[in-house]
Amino acid sequence: MKNVLVTGGCGFIGSNFIRYLLSESDFSGRVINVDRLTYAGNPENLAGIDTEFKERYVFVKADICDRVAMSEVFDTFQIDTICHFAAESHVDRSIAEPDAFIKTNINGTFNLLELARQNMNHLVLFHHVSTDEVFGSLGSDGYFTETTAYDPSSPYSASKAASDHLVMAYSRTYGLPITLSNCSNNYGPYHFPEKLIPLMILNALEGKPLPVYGNGQNVRDWLYVRDHCRAVWLVMQRGRRGETYNVGGRCEMANLSVVELICDTLDEMVPTATGSRRPLITYVKDRPGHDLRYAIDCGKIEKELGWLPEESFKTGIRKTIRWYLEHRDWVTRIKTGAYLEWIESHYQM
Ligand code: NAD
Ligand code: DAU
Repeated sequence: MKNVLVTGGCGFIGSNFIRYLLSESDFSGRVINVDRLTYAGNPENLAGIDTEFKERYVFVKADICDRVAMSEVFDTFQIDTICHFAAESHVDRSIAEPDAFIKTNINGTFNLLELARQNMNHLVLFHHVSTDEVFGSLGSDGYFTETTAYDPSSPYSASKAASDHLVMAYSRTYGLPITLSNCSNNYGPYHFPEKLIPLMILNALEGKPLPVYGNGQNVRDWLYVRDHCRAVWLVMQRGRRGETYNVGGRCEMANLSVVELICDTLDEMVPTATGSRRPLITYVKDRPGHDLRYAIDCGKIEKELGWLPEESFKTGIRKTIRWYLEHRDWVTRIKTGAYLEWIESHYQM
């Protein structure tokens, strides 16, 4: 793996992955980060990387749906490996406006697969980053395994399911060297504050209501983002080609418990004169088609590749809260949209 194309590298997980790959892993090649810079893509998430890794990091602003632009990227940088993160990722947005999800998540993935197929003679790997949401909803017991049937509920998860099927089909039909990972809910630095954890941290700090959907008893399995990045890199290096690996934190929590823990941790780290932040919790209308419970059986990646999460939720949430407290400028630029103005002036959108 000499020239690794990372798509969506300016987003939450993609930027953490590039930081991990260049700063912490044994990778010695070059990263070519292609990102369209949607509202969720912020080049500031990689501040310092471009200067510290001048010879080994390239950024290209492009849309993965643009066949001509992407073909140029493959040729110019002699791409031999792809780690595909780029996607529209927010379930609520997919319910309100599904179009972009179909375009980027399905057509964009198809586009990359076609280019990978055209470059088969020197292609080492196409790794597709996916989600546990493709499996739909669990009841109060059981776990998702790699053989659980797909049963997506939202336009987001349906579009990711379609992309997973395409990736697998390219492996079976054309012999494309692929690996796939389906991960549970991530949290950590650079998480866009439309998602539960950063939204609650920032609202709680500002004394704003904390909107909990339905009765707050929906369960998610939380994983610190660096542990996901470690898993992706491990699968890319040692995962069996043509296989998929589930990744999760073995950390199931009801949404209400997550929000209460955030309130209590903030109360301890940044006390207020008015006492507990829990009274800010406000129950709001439920998400349509809201999956009740996700829980991952990650026995395969544990047994085959020896992967285990290093961070517990208790330590991870503290690190995350501290990160948001120490990055108030990043938060302000996101919340005021100033980062979008910056992108516009630098990249002529
Ligand atoms: P994100 O929304 O934070 O980032 C997505 C990135 O993709 C952004 O930088 C955006 O600009 C870019 N992008 C979007 N459309 C593009 C296009 N057409 N061309 C090029 N770039 C484009 O998402 P995330 O939370 O970092 O998720 C990354 C990947 O991981 C997604 O594929 C998602 O399905 C998957 N995933 C996420 C989670 C999670 O908890 N966040 C869990 C499992 C899997
Ligand atoms: O499971 C992996 C998935 O996790 C990823 O594939 C998605 O890209 C990622 O966005 C995430 O999806 P969720 O829908 O689980 O994440 P979100 O943070 O939007 O919501 C987490 C839970 O919290 C969910 O049950 C809905 C609930 N929620 C969310 C928000 C934003 C609330 O109760 N209130 C809120 O304001």
